[in-house]
Formats: sequence, structure tokens, C-alpha cells
Amino acid sequence: MRTIELRGKSVVMIDQSKLPSKLEYIYCNSAAEVAEAIRQMKIRGAPALGVAAAMALAVTALRSKSRDARALLKELREAANEIRDTRPTGANLFFGLDRVMAAAREAGDDVARVRDRVVEEAKRIAEEDVEVNRRIGENGARLLEDGMTIMTHCNAGALATSGEYGTALGVVKAAVEQGKNLKVVVTETRPLLQGARLTTWELKRLGVPFVLITDNTTGFVFREGMVDCVIVGADRIAANGDVANKVGTYTIAVLANRHEVPFYVAAPTSTIDLRTGSGEDIEIEHRPSEEVSSFMGTRVAPEGTEVLNPAFDVTPADLVTAIITERGVVKPEEVRSLFSSNSV
Ligand code: MRU
Repeated sequence: MRTIELRGKSVVMIDQSKLPSKLEYIYCNSAAEVAEAIRQMKIRGAPALGVAAAMALAVTALRSKSRDARALLKELREAANEIRDTRPTGANLFFGLDRVMAAAREAGDDVARVRDRVVEEAKRIAEEDVEVNRRIGENGARLLEDGMTIMTHCNAGALATSGEYGTALGVVKAAVEQGKNLKVVVTETRPLLQGARLTTWELKRLGVPFVLITDNTTGFVFREGMVDCVIVGADRIAANGDVANKVGTYTIAVLANRHEVPFYVAAPTSTIDLRTGSGEDIEIEHRPSEEVSSFMGTRVAPEGTEVLNPAFDVTPADLVTAIITERGVVKPEEVRSLFSSNSV
């Protein structure tokens, strides 16, 4: 299953806001339409956002009427700025934009060549993401033993990536393919229910047993000894190993630490941002209050209720047992080593 694809001159993506009741695809024909799909969370998950950002530039190039390279570059810069303003926390969105813009700049003065390089690079980012996630799965599966119960939060499955594997769920999938029997504890992930709607949908399709809990049941399941390890994804990993991920991740990390349960983060190296020194430097996205004051479109809190709705929180490196990447499994304080020339 591919979450997002370039088809002709359009970006085609699964509308994740409709799942699990409907599996519908939407076509975006401009960067503005991709930006709107991102804002409305029709597409979400850090690696998928990186691919969407790259493909927004590809569609811009494919539909451009610019006759010279400079004019096309200007259009691409404007499109990139529009995408850049959508969701600030995830590193991959910026990674996708930077890679495609670099390819465009390096393509030279020929407008057709700039267009071709942009499209090529966007497609390459999408393909690489699938392969990278396959390797994350392979590297992480070694950490899991037959009979384990794994807690995950939000959705770090195929839907959160280019498709096929996912990060945290990619690890589960790889271990199950090796013949290990696993069970997953899925947190519902208020307010947009990525766990209850998306992770359950994916696990059901994979045939992996799971149990769904509300976010406030996490303490209960740890105390009952029901969790053997935690695997979550990440939106941005700072140079010191601090991890930004869906709000509620920090709570789970504290619980895991208290109960001496390993807490793993599965993420591609494109989520690691060495320019971000620590978690304190990560901009946390705050989302509209209606997402909390309403439930499934029905208001539940009185009119005028003040709401705090951060989309992410930061888990400090000392609560993270290890980070599982395509280049290997490292301690959080060692993420820099993944970028040294002999680490690949
Ligand atoms: O707000 P979302 O749904 O985009 O948040 C997604 C997460 O927090 C995921 O855990 C993260 O992007 C990693 S996905 C491989």
C-alpha cells in the first residue's frame, strides 16, 4: 500500500481523515492543494509529510508555464515557502523541501532540466523512504522476542510514511514476518485518534493482534505488567537525542522508565536534525482548540472554554533506551555517529 504517489501531474494520497470508514484518495494539483491537505491532516506522519513536500514541488514544476530556469526556481521557492508554513515540528517536511530545492538549483540554466531533476528527486525521496523503513524494520525486529506485547502511540505505520512498512509498525511487521508472535497495545491518541482510527486499521490488515486503550489507560496497563516494550515514531530528533513525537509520548516514556520497560524510538535518519541542538529548540505545533473542545464534530466543552492543544511533546534523551534507524540502532546520545562516513 502506498500512502502517497506522483501520478501524471498530480499528487495522489490516501485521505487519512476518512479512515477507517472510507478508503478514499485525493488528487492535489498544486502546492497550495498539498499545503491544505497537510493542514487538514489528510496526510500526516513525519516521513509522509517529507514526501508530500517534495511532491508538491514536483507538481509545481510539472504544471509551470515558466520558460526559463530562473522563473521556475522562483515559483518553486514560493511553493516551498507555502509548504514550510504548514506544520513546524516534523523535520522531514523541511528535509524533503531542502533536497528538492538543492536538486533544482544544481540543475543549471535549462528549464526542462530543472523540471526533470525536481520530479526525479521527489520520486527518489518517496522510493528511498520505503527502502529506509524496510531497513528500520529489519534492524528493530532483532530487539523483539516471541510473545512480547508492544505499546505504540499515534500512528507510525505505513500511513505515516511513503507506504508499505512504516517505522514503529515496520519493526512489528518485520518481527511478525520472522515468525514472532506479538501483540500491540494501541493508544487511541486524542484528539484526532490516529491510534484508534489508523494504527488499528493497519494492524488489522497485517493480521497482528492488538488491544485499543484510551490515552489515560496507559498507567493502568504498565502497572498490570502488560507492556514488554514501547516503540514509537518521531517527528524530530535533536542532536542530543531528545525526541519530539505525538503529544503523550513523554507520559509513556516516564511510565516506561518507572516500570523498567525499554522505550524505543524508530525513525529514519532524515528525522534527525543535527542543527537542532536539543528538545528546547524544537518548535511545537499548537492546533485549533475545536479539536479538543469537540468530539467527532460535536461540541463537548462549554462555549468559551480555554483549550491547550499542542500536537507534540518532547521526550528527553535519558528516557529513550535506543533509537532504531536504517543505519543501525544507537543510544540517543550517539545519534551524531550515524552521520559519520563509516556508519552506513
Ligand atoms: O500529528 P501527526 O499525526 O502527524 O503526528 C504523527 C506522529 O507523531 C508520528 O508518531 C510521527 O510522525 C512518526 S510517523 C513515522
